[in-house]
Amino acid sequence: MTSSDSKRRLIIVSNRLPVGIKRMAEGQYDFSPSSGGLVTGLSGLAKGGVEFLWYGWPGIEVPQEDMSHLKEELLHKHNAVPVLLDQKTADHYYDGYSNSTIWPLFHYQLDKVLFNEDTSAAYRKANQAFADAIAPSLGHGDHVWVHDYHLMLLPLLLRQQAWKMNISVHLGWFLHTPFPETDFFTILPSKTEILDGILGADVVGFQTDEARRHFLSTCSQVLGRSSIDAKILCSGRQVVVGTYPIGVEPSEFHSRLQKDCVQSAIRAMRDNFRGAKIIVGVDRLDYIKGVPQKLYAFDRFLETHPEWVGVAILVQVAVPSRAHLEAHQELKAEIQKLVGEINGKYGKVNYVPVHFLYSSIDPDELTALYAVADVCFISSIRDGMNLVCSEFVACHDQKAIQSSHESISHGTLILSRFTGAASSLDGSLVVNPWDQEECAEALAHAVSIDADEAHERMRKLGDKVEEQTSAHWGASFLCALERVGKVEVLDMEF
Ligand code: G6P
Repeated sequence: MTSSDSKRRLIIVSNRLPVGIKRMAEGQYDFSPSSGGLVTGLSGLAKGGVEFLWYGWPGIEVPQEDMSHLKEELLHKHNAVPVLLDQKTADHYYDGYSNSTIWPLFHYQLDKVLFNEDTSAAYRKANQAFADAIAPSLGHGDHVWVHDYHLMLLPLLLRQQAWKMNISVHLGWFLHTPFPETDFFTILPSKTEILDGILGADVVGFQTDEARRHFLSTCSQVLGRSSIDAKILCSGRQVVVGTYPIGVEPSEFHSRLQKDCVQSAIRAMRDNFRGAKIIVGVDRLDYIKGVPQKLYAFDRFLETHPEWVGVAILVQVAVPSRAHLEAHQELKAEIQKLVGEINGKYGKVNYVPVHFLYSSIDPDELTALYAVADVCFISSIRDGMNLVCSEFVACHDQKAIQSSHESISHGTLILSRFTGAASSLDGSLVVNPWDQEECAEALAHAVSIDADEAHERMRKLGDKVEEQTSAHWGASFLCALERVGKVEVLDMEF
């Protein structure tokens, strides 16, 4: 691919590449496809003739002697280019500033926020390394879509690069997490630098209207840049600030449900849990997911509704994530303790109330687990969007029922009001995860729900999940990016 290609070209930039990379013995590398909204959303666009080049950090330090071989393989097989960082920079940028400063701050977890000059310098250095890696392949008219909180300085760095090269590029930046209220954001010593970095983009996207509102009001209060119709004028450029909620591809779950291995997994799980009401939770092991809150609520539910002891079980999958962060290790220990307490309190020889798995789960098994579950309980204390709820719906909607030979129960969703999804997924039982009584009552309602009510709720949820797909998300953001420069700069007074 060269910058002179006449075809429209899209450069995707995210901290992670679309493939997971593992170093095997003797310089051999194993590549496994990453899952998630970003990858699936953009793969739909690839089918529409958009050419991709994807830049990201490989997540490992690559020895010099393996470099050219790895680069070649990534480019040819995955259209991907690794942005290499030395171990110290990577640790400070990823574990440090991105995940111990920005992540907890953007999720309102002030007690977990750490400030450190070294990590903030590494964040700058890593963003610059991304810009340096991308610069040689930038071409006039390219569309560049930068993702998430790891790369908030990059849009401005790329704009400066384009100026130097005297070319025009369409720059977008999308935040997958919440954007906090101004009072929280301004805790950041580098607040101005970060806002300026983001405003280097032409299109700035958020998951929810709330996040977009917070950003607009922060730009006005911190930088004195006000907006008209969610457009900010920046040195003669117009920055469009929009809401683009991400989704899943429900058809992928429907196809998976047709697989023999998924059908036999459903049968096996049914046999194993015969007569039980299954409540499922699937979360990355992260304090924002509110797993302790879910366990407290389940405990309270069994205490106040003892008729469900022996019948209701919670299957909680916790996918290991950022495992060397102290906050995550402490959380794991806390969850294990709570699981032990609940199982000790209500368990019987033939009844284990909480089944806790600390592992990632393969997509076929996950689909079967969703399908056998009667209830899905999302208890995040903050979440940019949350896609587990949409995946659960995709395994219980009309098309799921038609796809599966095994019968699928109606499925009820309990959803924390602190997820981005709660603002768009009508049909769920919305709860405050901090309110144990409310959650316990929602659980009681969900396990004994009337079939007509459950059916009506799932119909609404299914319609929304079908409409708000990841392909739709990708297409609407790129459509806004495509329009950059075609819209007249408004006659605005600032
Ligand atoms: C969140 C972030 C993503 C990130 C994912 C997994 O969804 O918004 O950018 O990739 O968590 O976290 P990890 O640190 O494993 O990439």
